[in-house]
Amino acid sequence: MITGTRCRAGLMMAVALMAAPALAGPDLVEFPKDYQTQFIVYNTIERPDRTPNQIRFMYVNPAAHRAASASRPAPSGTVLVMEDRAAKLGADGQPERDAAGRMVPTDRVLAIAVMEKRTGWGAGYNAERRNGEWEYAGFAPDGTRRTTTEAQTASCFACHQSRATRDWTFTYVKFLQDSGR
Ligand code: HEC
Repeated sequence: MITGTRCRAGLMMAVALMAAPALAGPDLVEFPKDYQTQFIVYNTIERPDRTPNQIRFMYVNPAAHRAASASRPAPSGTVLVMEDRAAKLGADGQPERDAAGRMVPTDRVLAIAVMEKRTGWGAGYNAERRNGEWEYAGFAPDGTRRTTTEAQTASCFACHQSRATRDWTFTYVKFLQDSGR
């Protein structure tokens, strides 16, 4: 027979387990809802190869950016956002180009990818998967999560692994290097 005390202890343990924060996984990354107004655009990349044609905007949070240098890992608290925006199309269905030959973005956001780094976040992964202290998450334009499980972000880790020597970033550390920081 289960006594009242044991039953309560069991219940408390179950509650503690449920409330325990995840050690790893995309849920750790909050949607950076003010990135368009508060973050710095450090790079854009045209992707006429993608359907629909798009322009990628890369953002970094200013506090981290102020402290960043290519010669050391990005500080804990760095948030990098990659926003895919649909390109403006001409009557011929091809991307319109401005006078300088650049593709013209519309306001239509297609997808938002975020990588965020916090001290301790990498500890939940084995050496093969771990990308330093980075965590990854994908969001719909309205901030709804597109990635909720570790399995859904496995490809993020795997592909960014190829840039381990640049703090697992394709463009950010390169940008710091190119701007002499
Ligand atoms: C197949 C390879 C690949 C996968 C998978 C991938 N990325 Fe990337 N990621 C890139 C490349 C390449 C860039 C640079 C942009 C470009 O060239 O279009 C990039 C850029 C980024 C950036 C901008 C900062 C930087 O590193 O330049 C973020 C943020 C990002 N990816 C997040 C994610 C997230 C989140 C996922 C998973 C949901 C993911 N990526 C999956 C290849 C990948």
